[in-house]
Formats: sequence, structure tokens, C-alpha cells
Amino acid sequence: MTLPNRLFLLALFNFTLLLPAITIAADDSNSAKQLYTQYCSSCHGAQRLGGMGPALLPGNLSRLRKPDAARVIQSGRAATQMPPFAHTLNNTQTDLLVNYIYEEPDTPPEWTLTDIQSTQQIHFQQDQLSSQPVFQADLQNLFIVVELGDHHATLLDGDTFNPIHRFATRFALHGGPKYSPDGRYVYFASRDGWISKFDIYNLKTVAEIRAGINTRNMAVSFDGRFAMVANYLPHNLVLLDTETLSPIKVIPVNGRVSAVYTAPPRNSFIAALKDDKTILEIPYRAPFQVRSISTDEYLDDFFFDPDYQHLIGASREGDRGQVIHLDSGKAIATVPLAGMPHLGSGISWHYQGKTVMATPHLKEGKVSFIDMSNWKVIKQIDTLGPGFFMRSHDNSPYAWVDVFFGPNKDAVHLIDKQTLEIAHTLKPEPGKTAAHVEFTKDGSHALLSIWEDDGAVIVYDSRTLREVKRLPMRKPSGKYNVYNKTHYSAGTSH
Ligand code: HEC
Repeated sequence: MTLPNRLFLLALFNFTLLLPAITIAADDSNSAKQLYTQYCSSCHGAQRLGGMGPALLPGNLSRLRKPDAARVIQSGRAATQMPPFAHTLNNTQTDLLVNYIYEEPDTPPEWTLTDIQSTQQIHFQQDQLSSQPVFQADLQNLFIVVELGDHHATLLDGDTFNPIHRFATRFALHGGPKYSPDGRYVYFASRDGWISKFDIYNLKTVAEIRAGINTRNMAVSFDGRFAMVANYLPHNLVLLDTETLSPIKVIPVNGRVSAVYTAPPRNSFIAALKDDKTILEIPYRAPFQVRSISTDEYLDDFFFDPDYQHLIGASREGDRGQVIHLDSGKAIATVPLAGMPHLGSGISWHYQGKTVMATPHLKEGKVSFIDMSNWKVIKQIDTLGPGFFMRSHDNSPYAWVDVFFGPNKDAVHLIDKQTLEIAHTLKPEPGKTAAHVEFTKDGSHALLSIWEDDGAVIVYDSRTLREVKRLPMRKPSGKYNVYNKTHYSAGTSH
């Protein structure tokens, strides 16, 4: 070999050695994208919108910390289709991928009416299925228990506390499931925008549609005909016909929608917006004309008075609530409530001749009591830590509030509804998160979640506080009683 040829080969050799390093350093995002396309897109979608696996976009991943995402990629998820990549991808490549999936895509993903329509699946026509339930139980005293741990739901008999049926849901349900007024159907919304309609009488998922990319919750109209879906992505509300889940209307919104509620006496849906000082009201009748109510501040997380004349929304600063008179659209009171009140889980009851509402706080160990006739805080009590859910029932002397955050998350307080003081503190399973209570139809029993992957639903006699039954469940996040939910019981959220 001549000298120039050898030099050329040497140069080529060196260059080839350097090549991979140069490419990664020069364009991380490009190689992350290549890795994604090669190893992930078949299940998570070319644009990260999801497919057989969940969507991998920053908004959708907000509850998964980056180190946990890296662990999932390396080790996979046991008993799911998510495979381990430890033998295929080194740490640098894993980190590239983690950073990639937590970055916004260059072009915001779209999800048009046509996209929504193309995902609709009708598994059963309504008239194919029997209108008689295939099991025996008090149909008004059933519970749906959502088990986030392995994406299932359990239908529970509220008299015997025996599970009737356990079924798979979409990945990561979000916002509570909603019942049709007669309690035959239950509608679920998932983090990635899937809406599913489940026929309780026939124990079958009858229809599904993907109404968004990143969804917060859904509401069902009082007459049961319409469902409204609140999306973070795209920035919109999507109205569905509950019979087949066919989309009726897409309502574009300025920024993200935090939540949508149904307001039965007003025959309307009411939506809270994250990025706009506006409340939206959409009546349940064509042409579904949107009414915008401007507010002085960003309001999130609403609680309504029983006749839906007023709502109280938490201000973004987290130190006060703002009361809005819905007909006039005017702010009529400001309620000082430091420590981020969780108004959406507020409840109300009769106390000394008036209606009081009570709310836990997400950032302070406090419960506040507000006189709803004049919107004054009449009392605040200290709890063992910030709480998330508060529940009661007309037939229960106690309001139950969890201590969801902090070192005392294994405790629940029972507040005496007539003294507004803590009467009991239970520790159902020391060291494990105790959260979210829901009552049976008659209020005689309270069901509480041990919110862990190997968790449980514990059934208490709501007067003696004796444990009646403990049902093993996979991170049971919420329990929903047909009667209490369809009757808008004051002791539960709607
Ligand atoms: C064979 C299909 C498949 C492939 C290939 C795949 N995944 Fe997954 N992935 C899934 C499924 C299914 C889940 C949901 C698992 C569960 O139920 O918890 C998942 C879950 C995840 C999660 C957790 C999401 C969450 O919100 O909890 C991350 C992160 C993830 N995958 C990243 C990746 C990355 C990065 C790749 C490519 C290196 C990849 N996956 C390849 C199917 C797949």
C-alpha cells in the first residue's frame, strides 16, 4: 500500500471512530428522535400521541417524575406490554429519551373533529343488550371503585360489599367516573383523552372514543343526553352524544380547561379555565351557545351552592376564594382561605340553622368552614396535614377528611358536624396512605381507600366506626356510589 493510501485509510478510520460522538454532541434531539422512532414509536405513536401504549408528552407525564420514567424505560413495567430496554439502551441513551419525552414537540399536536371521529368504537349497539341486569343487587347502591394501580375498575355491591365484576379500563383514568341518571351506564375519562361508556347491567364496555390528547375530566348533563370533556390538550371542550359517544361540537378555548361541571338547575355545563380569567357556561341545548363570564382573577376548582346560583372558585395565588353570582356574572365576595383550598372536594351540611361548607386545603393542614349565607369563614381547625378529599352523608354525624400529604398521610379525621371539631382520628393501616371516603346509599357505611399498589378498600360502620370488611385492591383511588352521585348528595362531590 502506498503511503498516501495508508494516510487516507488512517484518516478515514479516525473519522469513523469520531463519528458517533460528534453526531450525539452536535444534535442530541435528533438522535433522541431516532432512538424514539426505532424503539418506542411502534407502541407510543410516531408523534408520541400514544397507541397501544400511553401518550408520552410532557403534559401527560406530569405525574411521573423523570427518574421514574428512566426506571420504567430500563426495567419495563411488570405484567404490562412495556418491555425493559436495559440491554438495548445505555444510560446516556435512556437519559436522551427521557429528556425527549418531557419536551414539547416542535409543532403542537392537533386533534381535530375528524381525528376524534376516526377513533370511535361501538362495541355493542344499545338495542343488542338486555335492559335487565345480569346480576342481583340493589342497583342504586352499587359502587364503582377505580383501581389506578393496574388500570381496572371494580363494580361492588353496596349491601354485601362483594365485588360483582372487575374489568380493564383505559390507561390512567382522570376525574371521577360519571353515571347516567338511571345508573345503568358509567362514563370514564382517561388521562390520554379516551372516553369509555360501560353498561353496568350487562357488564360490558359498549362504546369508546378519544376526545382529546390530555384530558382533565368529564361531566354528564342532568338529563343524561350529553357529555362534556375538558381538555388541557388541545385547548378545548368536546361535547359528546352519550348514546354513542359521537362528537357533537368542539369548542375551542383560550388555554387549558381545568375542569367541567354540570349545573342541573341551570341546565348547563360550567367550565373552569387555567390560563384565562373567564368562566364558561354552555347550556344543554342546541346550538350550545357559549356564555363567557369575565372574572378579575384566574379561578380554578369550583364549588357550587345547592341551587347553583353561586360558585366559589380558588384564586391562582391560593390564598382566597372568589364567589361569583352566576346569573349576573359578578363577583360578590372574597373569602380569605390561605393554603390553597381544595374547593372541588368541598361539602356542605346544616349547622345551627344555616348551611355551612367545609373544605380541606392542599398546602396547609387546615379545614375551613364557611357560612354560605354570607360567605364568611366561621371557623378553621388544624389537621395533621394538608388534605385532599372530604366526604359526609346526611345520615352520618361526621365529615371525614384525609391527610393526603406529608408524614401523617396514614391518618383520617372525623369531624363532628355539630361542633366542627375533630371527634376521632383513625389510622386504618399505619404507614400507608388513607384517602377518599364514600358512603353507601343510606349512609350506614363508609368506604375508605388504602391508596397503595397493594392497597385495599376498608368498609366501616359509619356510626360505631367498626371495620366491617377489607377488600384487597390495586391503588383504589376513588369509589363512586350510584345513588349519592346521581342524587347530587351534599356529602359528596359531583
Ligand atoms: C411493545 C410496546 C411498547 C414499546 C416498544 C415501548 N413501550 Fe413504553 N409503554 C408501553 C405500555 C403498554 C405502557 C403502559 C404500561 C402500564 O400499564 O403501566 C408503557 C409505559 C411507558 C412509560 C410510562 C408512562 C406513564 O405515564 O406511566 C414510559 C415513560 C414509556 N413507556 C417509555 C417508553 C420508551 C421511551 C420506549 C422506547 C425506548 C417505550 N416506552 C417502548 C408499551 C411499550
